Amino acid sequence: MTSQLEAPGLELLLDEFEVSATVHRLADELSERHEDGVVLIAVLRGSIPFLADLARAMSIRSVVDFVALTSYTHGAGRVRMLMDVTTDLTDREVVLVEEIVDTGLTSAFLLSELGRRHPRSLSICTLINRPARRVVPVELDHVGIEIPDRYVIGYGLDHQGRYRNLRVLATADTDVLAEDPDAYVEALYGV
Ligand code: PRP
Repeated sequence: MTSQLEAPGLELLLDEFEVSATVHRLADELSERHEDGVVLIAVLRGSIPFLADLARAMSIRSVVDFVALTSYTHGAGRVRMLMDVTTDLTDREVVLVEEIVDTGLTSAFLLSELGRRHPRSLSICTLINRPARRVVPVELDHVGIEIPDRYVIGYGLDHQGRYRNLRVLATADTDVLAEDPDAYVEALYGV
């Protein structure tokens, strides 16, 4: 359920407790599915809070590793890796941890890239699915919440570097943010 925060165009999507409940549900799903442990691969930088909470909520062994990708090039999507994992994925159960799946270009690129490393299994766990923006189809194995085509900030998702460290997820008005990127600082940080 969404509720209005004290700023125009800003609405709470998930409060701190709803975020935590969602993360714990996903952690339970993964723990049940990967009894022998798992390699969690997170995409920098948005997935960091999610990864940290997810890994600690799981009841199985985990190894964490990271990839960094180039930003989108118009018309070309993700083009190459800036930083690769150092973990040997051969015969490992691997889960790609995404904060949000939008166009699906990031997930599709990484599934193909990581799939070449001969993992025993390779699946996707995303906190947020925004299917309205999908460009390439991707099969999502674990989904926290599905949202309509709204701009989201908080809990890893930034706007020009701001709002990533919030414990909540909120939907925001891009016109308001275009005029002032700090427009929601007071409402969300209480300052
Ligand atoms: C976001 C998010 C995913 C990607 C998904 O990263 O963290 O990695 O977009 O989008 P897609 O499905 O359209 O490919 P972003 O490019 O915002 O980088 P950041 O995490 O460093 O902010």
